[in-house]
Formats: sequence, C-alpha cells, structure tokens
Amino acid sequence: MSQTSFQDISQAKQDAIPLPLGERLVRNGCVSPAQLEQALEAQSKEGHKETLIGKTLIELGYITHPALLNCLFHQLTRERVAYHLDRQAQTIIRFENVEKSLDGRKVLDNLNLEIPANKITAIIGISGGGKSVTLKHMVGLMKPDKGEVWVGDQPLGRLSTRKLNHVRRRFSMLFQEGALFDSLNVTDNVAFPLRETTRLHEEEILRRVELCLQEVNLVGMGNKYPDELSGGMRKRAALARALVTQPEIILLDEPTAGLDPIIENSIHYLICDTFMRTRYTTVFISHAVPAIFDWCHHVVVLHRGRVLASGPSLEIRNSSDPTIKQFISGDLDGPIQVI
Ligand SMILES: Nc1ncnc2c1ncn2[C@@H]1O[C@H](COP(=O)(O)OP(=O)(O)OP(=O)(O)O)[C@@H](O)[C@H]1O
Ligand SMILES: [Mg+2]
Repeated sequence: MSQTSFQDISQAKQDAIPLPLGERLVRNGCVSPAQLEQALEAQSKEGHKETLIGKTLIELGYITHPALLNCLFHQLTRERVAYHLDRQAQTIIRFENVEKSLDGRKVLDNLNLEIPANKITAIIGISGGGKSVTLKHMVGLMKPDKGEVWVGDQPLGRLSTRKLNHVRRRFSMLFQEGALFDSLNVTDNVAFPLRETTRLHEEEILRRVELCLQEVNLVGMGNKYPDELSGGMRKRAALARALVTQPEIILLDEPTAGLDPIIENSIHYLICDTFMRTRYTTVFISHAVPAIFDWCHHVVVLHRGRVLASGPSLEIRNSSDPTIKQFISGDLDGPIQVI
C-alpha cells in the first residue's frame, strides 16, 4: 500500500485521536452507529468482549475483512502524520552510552537510543548491525559492558534479580528464530507463558489461547506440533505466544522474515490491529524496507552498533542521508560496503 498524502494536516491530527475500534469504524464511515450498536448487543448476548467487535461486524455482514483492515491502515497513516508533526511521545526505553562486545568484537558502540511509549517503532539496518543484540538488551537478556538501559525509571543494570524479573513481566518477546518448543503442540506453546507467569484457571487460559489463535488465523491448529506447521504458521504461533500475556511492551524480532508477501502483509495488519486495540508499545525489527515505513510511527536505523537516524517514519523515509538512502533503495553502490 502506498503512502497517503493529506491536504488537511489539522484534520489528520484530529482524526488521529485514539478511539476504541468500534467508535473509530463509525468515525471513518466504515459502519453506521446503528450497526455498531447492533453488533455490540449481539456480542453482549454471547458474552464476548468489546475487543472482538471487528469480527462480529464481519459476521453480521456489516463490513468485509479487507475493508476492516483498510480502515485500520488508514487510521495508522493518520497517526503517523500526526506524530510526524507534533512528535509527542514519552520515552519508555532508553539506552545511555551502551557498549557491548561479543567474541572480542564491538557490537554496540556507545549506543544512545530512545523508544517512544505507546507507538509502533521499527528498527532497521543491515544484517549483523546489532539489531537483535539491541532488542535482547531491552529486556535484560544481555547486559551492557558499559552504559545503562532504562525501562521507564528503572536502570536494568542496577536492579536486583527480583526487580529485574518484575520489569521483564512488562515485556513479551518474539525471538528471531520463533523459538517454539518442539515437544509442545501449538495450544501448549501459546499457553506456556500464561501457565508460567499467572494463576489463571486452565479454562480461562484455554479461552485466551483460542482467542489468540483466532487472531493469528490458526483456528483448529492447536493440536499440531511445530514440525507439522509451515514456516509462516510457526511464525504466527510464536506471535500468538508473544501476544497472549497482553504485555505493556511487545518486542518482535523479524516477525515477517521468510514469509510470502501476502502473509507478510497480514502480519503487518495483525501488529497494527493489536496495537490499535491495546496501544501497547510495539518494537519490531524488520527487513521489509521500504514497506515497513507505512506500518510504524517511529523508525530507528542502526548501523555498526550506533543509531544512524531515529525519528518519525515519514521523516526517515525522506532522509537525504546517503547511508539511509542506500539502505532503503538497496543500491550496491554507496557508503555501505558490500563484500
Ligand atoms: N551470542 C552471541 N555471541 C557472539 N556473537 C554474537 C552473539 N549474538 C550476536 N553476535 C554478533 O553480534 C553481531 C550483531 O548480531 P545481531 O544478531 O544483533 O545482528 P542483526 O542486526 O540482528 O542481524 P540480522 O539482520 O542478520 O538478524 C553479529 O556480528 C553477531 O555475530
Ligand atoms: Mg537479528
């Protein structure tokens, strides 16, 4: 989908106000207020939560699935324009002069980085540039040799194990490899973090797992084991596991790598949809350049363990920096040396 240009910027800012999905659909003219009311009524009879309003509207025939997704995409576009204009966001994760060497090689080199709260941030950069290592530092899985990583007002390096675990519970992470447990079926894989970190009844756990599997389009696949799934299905199962605990901060390491363009697109919609419903801070690493600029508010370009650029996606997309331009265009000729 191409970028949308807006004549009336102030209208875009007005439209970017976060709203519950149902209200947003009415505001955007996708459904009528009466249809929304009927859908809410139908849901309350069946005891469903408001979060499924999109699905109910589809079932009642008031909106098609592509139209619903289109509406979400345009809402995100409006928000991106608004963020580009006012840049208003608190910082939730901050790297302060972080250095990290691995196997004698400096991977993070005096890295200073800020992740805005309640926005979607994409981290991009050439392979081996330190993106996954950076993500692991955010959740305290790797520790800096020098410098500090802050989550809110908590300096991770100075926390006791108990406090660090407490901070970690605010996160969920999708690892680059997906990292499903081979010996567990899809249901048990997705249920795993709920069983480990909550005291929910089994019935409630299975209900939440089922909802999550619906969201990632894996209905009926709960009994399958990872080696019975395609690569795309494994990725979606791992994504369901990252989303099931409803964390405050979601870290996704290449959620679309190795997927066909249609599944890639559907994952982008899913991330956008989840964000619109929850407003959780979402950070994801992606090589889907330039498509990725349409799917996030903020972009960080990492290069050789440093931040080359950081800002609203619209700004980075139009950057005149030769390294960023080369990275976006994929040219072999430019400041990035390709061996
Ligand atoms: N556990 C580790 N031990 C030793 N070296 C590591 C480790 N993890 C990462 N590295 C090295 O750190 C560098 C950055 O790795 P990282 O995984 O962060 O790259 P990336 O930007 O995520 O790349 P890609 O886009 O290919 O996933 C690489 O040179 C890698 O070999
Ligand atoms: Mg990586």
